[in-house]
Amino acid sequence: MKRNFIEIPDFSRDEIFETFELAKELKQKTKQGIEHHLLKGQTLAMVFQKPSNRTRVSFEVGMYQLGGHALYLGPAEIGLGKRESVADVARVLGRYCDGIMARVFGHQDVLDLAQYAPVPVINGLSDLVHPCQIMGDMLTIIEHKGKAEGWKIVYLGDGNNVANSWVNLARFIPMTLVISSPEGFEPNAELVGRTQKAGLSEIVIEQDPQRAVANADVVYTDVWASMGQEQEADARKKIFKPYQVNQSLLNHASKECIVMHCLPAHRGDEITDQVMDGPQSVVFDEAENRLHIQKAIMVKLMKKN
Ligand code: CP
Ligand code: NVA
Repeated sequence: MKRNFIEIPDFSRDEIFETFELAKELKQKTKQGIEHHLLKGQTLAMVFQKPSNRTRVSFEVGMYQLGGHALYLGPAEIGLGKRESVADVARVLGRYCDGIMARVFGHQDVLDLAQYAPVPVINGLSDLVHPCQIMGDMLTIIEHKGKAEGWKIVYLGDGNNVANSWVNLARFIPMTLVISSPEGFEPNAELVGRTQKAGLSEIVIEQDPQRAVANADVVYTDVWASMGQEQEADARKKIFKPYQVNQSLLNHASKECIVMHCLPAHRGDEITDQVMDGPQSVVFDEAENRLHIQKAIMVKLMKKN
C-alpha cells in the first residue's frame, strides 16, 4: 500500500527515528560526493499554491541527487480545485509521476490529494502543519545537541502550522514544549489535546515570553503573519511585539541554547539581526537540513524494491 507524509503522525516513532538516521547517511554521502541514486528515473510533481524558496529548491535538488527529476507546478499552471478538482489533479499526476509534493492553503486539499493520488503524497506546508520543516529541525537539534529527547523547546509567536507540527512531534519524542503566544493565537487545541493524551511530553502554554524562555535549550520562532495573512501583518506586529527573539530575551535562556527559525525571517520583527547572525543561531544549518530530511522522507515513501 502506498504511504503518504501529510502529518508527522503518519510515521510511527520508529519510522521517525529511521528517517533521521537515513537523512544523516544521505547527508554524509552528499558531502563526500558518493552517488546515491535511490530514486533513479523517478519523477516528483511539486504543486505550489504559495511561494517558496527552501521547499521548492530542496525538493528539486533532492530528487536530482537521488537520480530522479522534479517538476515545478506553480499556482498559475495547475489551478488546484479551480481549473480542475483536487481529486482529478491527483489522479492525473499519479499517471505521470511517482510522487507528489504539495504546498497548499487548506489542509483538506493535501488530504484529498493523498486520498485520490495512486502515488505517495508529501505535505510541503498547509495552513495546519509543516511536517517536513519540523523533521529537519529535529535533525538539526540532534546534530547540535547530540540527541533528540529531553530538551526544553520554546516556541515564541504565532501558534501556526509550524507550532502545530512541533506539537505533533512532541507526541513521539519526549520534550518540554513551551508555546508562548498572545491570547487567541495559541496552537491548534485538538492537536495539543492529542499530544497531552499521549503523555510523553509536557506541553506548556505560557503567555509571558520571559517566563517561557527561562532555561530554554532551544528558542524557536517564525513569522507573525503567515502566507495568506499578509493583510493582517500590520495589526499583528503590534500584538506580537513582546514575543520578538532579541538578545535581552535570550539572556533568560540556557547558555547553550540554540536559536532556530524556519525562515523566511522578517528581521527586526520576530527576530533581530543580532540574534539571527549571532553565535547561538543555527538557522542556516536548519535550512540545509530540509534537503537531507526530505531526501530521506522521499526514499522511505517512494523507493521501489
Ligand atoms: N521554511 C520554508 O518552508 O521555507 P519556504 O517557504 O521558502 O519554502
Ligand atoms: N508559518 C509560515 C511558515 C513559512 C515556511 C507560513 O505558513 O507562511
